[in-house]
Amino acid sequence: MKKKFKLETNLVRGGLTRSNFKETSEAIFLNSGFVYDSPEQAEAIFLGKQKGFQYTRYANPTIEMFEQRLALLDGSESCFATASGMAAVFGSMMCQLQAGDHVVSASALFGSCRYILKDILPKFGIEVTFVNGTNLNEWKKSVKKNTKIFFFESPSNPCLEIIDIKQVCLIAKKNKITTIVDNIFASPVLQQPIKFGADIIIYSGTKHIDGQGRAMGGAICCTKKFKEDILKPFLRHTGPCISPFNAWVLLKSMETIKIRVHSQSHTAQNIAEFLEKHKKVEKVFYPGLKSFSQYALAKKQQSAGGTMISFRIKGSKKEAFRFIKNLKIFDISNNLGDTKSLVTHPTTTTHKVLGEKDRISLGITPNLVRLSIGLENLEDLKKDILDSLNKS
Ligand SMILES: Cc1ncc(COP(=O)(O)O)c(C=O)c1O
Repeated sequence: MKKKFKLETNLVRGGLTRSNFKETSEAIFLNSGFVYDSPEQAEAIFLGKQKGFQYTRYANPTIEMFEQRLALLDGSESCFATASGMAAVFGSMMCQLQAGDHVVSASALFGSCRYILKDILPKFGIEVTFVNGTNLNEWKKSVKKNTKIFFFESPSNPCLEIIDIKQVCLIAKKNKITTIVDNIFASPVLQQPIKFGADIIIYSGTKHIDGQGRAMGGAICCTKKFKEDILKPFLRHTGPCISPFNAWVLLKSMETIKIRVHSQSHTAQNIAEFLEKHKKVEKVFYPGLKSFSQYALAKKQQSAGGTMISFRIKGSKKEAFRFIKNLKIFDISNNLGDTKSLVTHPTTTTHKVLGEKDRISLGITPNLVRLSIGLENLEDLKKDILDSLNKS
């Protein structure tokens, strides 16, 4: 999408298409099909000779408004909305892979992303190599003649590992490899991987985009050509489309995403600084902390530390559970990016599927707690954490 206005204006008006009724707010086109004036018109639209909607699995006016608005924020030319973030991850890979291909992925991944790469792709004859994403040499050395995709999350879920997007993309470009970046943790407000050379950017609408715990959704941001030639044929026929209602929820949420994410990130920065000083805290993982091992790289890529913090409490699973249970404001949930602050125990939930050996190698220890910071008052959240740590 070409940016006509500045960001705040695009977030409220980008992609807006009004119907004949001239509604102020964006309309929900909650219909599956569209009608044609004549069989000749239907034929022309199916041939692509005339513009027009055919079927919501293909495209829909409300979904299109959401896609255009997100592309304006992300900086990509184009976008295809999906039913969930995982549908976006899977679709973005499967649309371009075939048996005999090779994929390289960072090891530090959300449980379901790792499941796709480790368990699903190999079933289709696709070889996958996992690398330490922070080590550029490992990316370089892993390249084979048949490598098609580099995949990583930055920051990663849950230890917020930062990957040098620019450098990994340079290795990819040299070898004609497509780089897919899962930008879910940072959100499109704080980081635009396209600026660093990424080809495809993945979002879970469920996270910061809705940010209010209401709707599932996802998106694949990419070039117009990739969407038209590769993505559309695959997604249109396999059908992981988003519901127009969910797309409408996400579309309207885009109006406030910048305000929400900046405020949540500001609170998170304060909480991370406060946590690292507490005697019951062993280690804090937060890209906005000067003590964070990848602070300098995070600062280059992200405009702020983000809404997510992970930390190791002194002790084991018992102490982590006690801390989680004693919180009064934070809800126990595996979602993230919500206006309500949420707490997660990755070992037993989001990263359970990995198995103990893999989890430990990625730093996901039983005493690790993940916080998603919401829009509540900073002092209330700090007091909640402090009271709970004191009881732990
Ligand atoms: C890094 C990352 N990628 C992908 C997803 C999947 O998103 P969704 O739950 O919308 O399918 C998640 C969900 O937590 C995530 O944290």
